[in-house]
Amino acid sequence: MCGIVGYIGKNDALPVIINALKMLEYRGYDSAGVAVFDGKTIRIVKRKGKIRELEQELSSKALKGTVGIGHTRWATHGRPDDINAHPHRCGPIVLVHNGIVENYLELKEKLQRENGNSFCSETDTEVIACLISSKYRGNLVEAVLEAVKELKGSYALVVMSEKEPEKIVAYRKDSPLILGVGDGEYFVASDIPALLPYTNRVVALEDDECAVLKRDGYLLLKNGREFSKEPKVVHWSTAMADEAGYRHIMQKEIFEQPKAVADTLNAYYSAEGEFGLFEESFSQKLIEAERIRLVACGTSYYACMVSRYWFDRFSRLPVDVDIASEFRYRDLHIDKRDLCIFVSQSGETADTLAALRLCNSSGATTVGVCNVMESTIARESQAVVYTLAGPEIGVASTKAFTTQLAVLFLMAVYMGWIREHLSKDEVKSMCNPLVYIPGLMEEVLRLDGSLRDLARVYMKKEHFLYLGRYLNYPIALEGALKLKEISYIHAEGYAAGEMKHGPIALIDEQMPVVVVAPPDKVYEKIRSNIEEVKARSGIVIAFNPKFNTELEKICYHIF
Ligand code: F6R
Repeated sequence: MCGIVGYIGKNDALPVIINALKMLEYRGYDSAGVAVFDGKTIRIVKRKGKIRELEQELSSKALKGTVGIGHTRWATHGRPDDINAHPHRCGPIVLVHNGIVENYLELKEKLQRENGNSFCSETDTEVIACLISSKYRGNLVEAVLEAVKELKGSYALVVMSEKEPEKIVAYRKDSPLILGVGDGEYFVASDIPALLPYTNRVVALEDDECAVLKRDGYLLLKNGREFSKEPKVVHWSTAMADEAGYRHIMQKEIFEQPKAVADTLNAYYSAEGEFGLFEESFSQKLIEAERIRLVACGTSYYACMVSRYWFDRFSRLPVDVDIASEFRYRDLHIDKRDLCIFVSQSGETADTLAALRLCNSSGATTVGVCNVMESTIARESQAVVYTLAGPEIGVASTKAFTTQLAVLFLMAVYMGWIREHLSKDEVKSMCNPLVYIPGLMEEVLRLDGSLRDLARVYMKKEHFLYLGRYLNYPIALEGALKLKEISYIHAEGYAAGEMKHGPIALIDEQMPVVVVAPPDKVYEKIRSNIEEVKARSGIVIAFNPKFNTELEKICYHIF
């Protein structure tokens, strides 16, 4: 995923841009570039590879100036190389772009035919630069606003003109852009962590909003009209976004889970049985709901799958769980009494956002469960409950997942309470023991060393199975997703009861099978599934919170 940064202020732009781009490195990229106005011209330096390679290139170039933009690119149109890297230039216009312009080929042909433009890159971004350039009559804002009328697709644009070097113009359509308001300096970035070293005062742009950043302030435009929006303060800091002595950021985030979950639980529930999830007026809609729809992608979808069992039990309403990218293509009859819950760490996932918009336009009640303040899903949902995980920088979701579970559990119990299926005493007996969860998580984290040893034993395996039943079926899916994503080892998650319907054929003495087997209402069933694996000489690695001699006997490893 690409990253965008722009700066105008009193300081040297280059170190600010490079530092801010580094805060976005976690998003993954294959080339990077910067453009700085040096007092005469806008100079561009860009390189395939990592930011450190760009820095090497920059070390021999004195790129001095106080206005500039930067980008980390994840190739979509054209291979990752120096030429396709951003920024792109056409005439006086220099820009960086996130997103995809769907009609770029059509526009490219038109610009070639009518303006005689020639293009050096394979990107859709260079086409946007030339389109803006073709509209440019000395007013950058007007040229950008004219050009976007012809663009189809999603885009966040940050643009400079050599003829008006004292401003940066930013425009958002379906791809996030955040302004950072500093002290006599202004920033724009595709994501909040890029801004954290400099400011925590942010303004999130909405679709079709344009921002003009100057040295003495910024102005916002929509439909050609100026409007104002107060900056919001984000309670995140740079320290929350660095490795803090851990081997990598994901390890740090794994170890932050007890605190993240404790913060989230404390924010929304008190031992007196009081909830702080929703305004009273909004809760009326939850009382009137006739169906619950949970919609998300990836790990957030698995959090929804877990919570389905809780919503089934406590709300006693029909509950649907959908993958956001499939949701829009079902022939759904979304009703105004549907309560639709959208779960997203980033609050920017395009499919989840599209599903939210569909439900909003159908008159349903919508709730976002998001981690990033001021993100689009948070803003466009009728109510939002934030997971208080702090910035999740690691590309794989960890602490966001467990805080999502905390919020969804509280929401499910809250539904049971306001719909009068649970008494106050039942609420307390359900929720008060949650205070033990962070401590129990600490205990699990102390398994770190022995799990690392286990990983060394099986690191050369090419396939893994993950099994669980009931609440732990989606946990098995999540475990398999993490192994695939982080170790590049093929892993399948299965409902353990489904094993005999096919996957059992894969089990032999080469196959590690990870089983989540706590002493819950399906323990006997999952123990039988473990026996089935053992009968085929599979390597059972089981997780159980209590010492269990029975499992000790039948599993290779038990944690
Ligand atoms: C997996 C992972 C992804 C995200 C998914 C949704 O480790 O991180 O599967 O969970 O892309 O992202 P959000 O929650 O930001 O909508």
